[in-house]
Amino acid sequence: MWDRNSLVSVTQLSRSDIEEILSVASSFVREPRELCKGKILANIFFEPSTRTEKSFQSAMYRLGGQVLTHKDAGSSREKGETKEDTIRILAGYADIAVIRDDEEGQIMRYAALAGVPAINAGDGSNEHPTQSLLDAFTIMQEHGRLENLRIAFLGDLKYGRTVHSLMKVLSLFPGNEMYSITPSSLTLPAEMRFIEAGHYDVENMEKALNEIKPDVVYCTRVQKERLKGEKGSYIMHREILEALPTTCRVLHPLPRSNEINADMDSDPRVIPFKQARNGVPVRMAVISMMLKAKKELE
Ligand code: NCD
Repeated sequence: MWDRNSLVSVTQLSRSDIEEILSVASSFVREPRELCKGKILANIFFEPSTRTEKSFQSAMYRLGGQVLTHKDAGSSREKGETKEDTIRILAGYADIAVIRDDEEGQIMRYAALAGVPAINAGDGSNEHPTQSLLDAFTIMQEHGRLENLRIAFLGDLKYGRTVHSLMKVLSLFPGNEMYSITPSSLTLPAEMRFIEAGHYDVENMEKALNEIKPDVVYCTRVQKERLKGEKGSYIMHREILEALPTTCRVLHPLPRSNEINADMDSDPRVIPFKQARNGVPVRMAVISMMLKAKKELE
């Protein structure tokens, strides 16, 4: 069971923890409550972000709390201050910390250093737990279930941390069939191979999607900033979209490069912007549940 002291990996969550988070998130959609009045969240970002940072901020505001934001530009990091010291300082000014790192492998240690409940907002190519929870929330909204689904993951599955977290979440629910459709240089890394996923090369994207008949296509961007010489590109053309089942939903954590053209946004099956908005209630749920467990809230 989740100790609610940190959320650095989705492997800390059981199926029932995930169901509880999604149910609390739904309650916030129906009825936002200012549960975190007087509390401060520290958003500590060592890597760029739009959605994650701003939706954590919006979530804390909607909970009645306040937010401090650290970005390296303009901070003492430019004088050489370490990430460790930055975390200890910012977290010391707050009741809960959100940390994004450009490298994998350090987030557990950083969360422990914070001294307050800490949430991983993405660490290198490793994981992005709250993104996968908002992805799961979106799939639940669209399909009414998180089990017995056919999910095609498209793109950079080697470095795409959102995929790593979402595959782990979906593997906790029975009957899900996962498929990876990737350039051969960007397939799942060794540590993700415990996930059973059928594989197709992206060259055969159209054939793969025709065979899979997915309930969900989860597109990702090539993580250019993390490539170590690999190359890869893929574009979801309109003809491919046309051939997908009418009940299929196309998700993308964003930002997009050119994997999904903006001219497809009008298709009701393509829902990345709706998905992004779900970041607010889901992060409200995670923040309030963690602060409540610390007996910080009534
Ligand atoms: C993703 C991330 O940062 O991992 N974006 C996000 O949080 N919504 C995906 C990406 O950067 O490609």
